[in-house]
Amino acid sequence: MPGHSPASVLIVFGAGGHGRVAADAALASGAFTRVVASDRDPATWGGELLPGVPVLSLQAVAELPAPLAVHVAIGNNALRRSEADRLLAQWPGAQLASIIHPHASVAATARIGAGCLVTAQSVVAPLAELGAGVIVNHGAVVDHDCRVGAWAHIAPGARLGGAVRVGDAALVGAGSTVLRNLRVGAHATLGAGAVLLADLPDGAAWAGVPARPLQGASA
Ligand SMILES: CC(C)(COP(=O)(O)OP(=O)(O)OC[C@H]1O[C@@H](n2cnc3c(N)ncnc32)[C@H](O)[C@@H]1OP(=O)(O)O)[C@@H](O)C(=O)NCCC(=O)NCCS
Repeated sequence: MPGHSPASVLIVFGAGGHGRVAADAALASGAFTRVVASDRDPATWGGELLPGVPVLSLQAVAELPAPLAVHVAIGNNALRRSEADRLLAQWPGAQLASIIHPHASVAATARIGAGCLVTAQSVVAPLAELGAGVIVNHGAVVDHDCRVGAWAHIAPGARLGGAVRVGDAALVGAGSTVLRNLRVGAHATLGAGAVLLADLPDGAAWAGVPARPLQGASA
């Protein structure tokens, strides 16, 4: 697995619902000696994120034995990226760790960047590439030859056809479909349930079937 030693303690940073998904996948993967969680406000989340996964303060994490493997489990793409930068600066020597649930199907020829989360029942097909910090959420399909840019989120049940390109920090919404060879621009949002039939420009928010620009949307 890229980005960490198999013997590492894993810190799941972000002790919310998405953090629970990441911690659960990390435990199931058996790739880490121990899984703990942390958050900027650990008191908010009680003692444990999941049974056996304590929520520690940043100070307590810094006292763990090196090397630190860190997975930033925050659904918001911009926040996930900025927290990763902050934590790597704060904990010299820490590395971003990817988590792949054992019930995900990841082709041997797929490339998974550092800090990615590939969840249960998702598919990453041959020669697909995920940049750093990408989320491939439950049941999503990243088909052959796709390239997904850093810090993008392929939400639950979304389907990317073959050779789709997704730009950095884009959100491909839950249950949406992107036809093959199309491009989803950087920082763009494709709404839940949309069917994309044309390239989606950088920073744009489209939704519907077929997907069209959303006039009133804030994304
Ligand atoms: C597209 C999206 C980003 C718009 O969010 P928003 O900016 O808060 O927009 P609003 O909810 O104010 O809706 C604006 C308009 O778009 C419509 N709209 C919103 N989402 C839509 C969607 N997915 N499909 C079709 N229309 C949609 C609303 O009905 C509203 O229409 P109106 O102006 O005629 O009333 C959001 O609805 C969405 O689909 N996000 C994806 C969520 C997701 O999959 N997350 C992953 C979770 S793990």
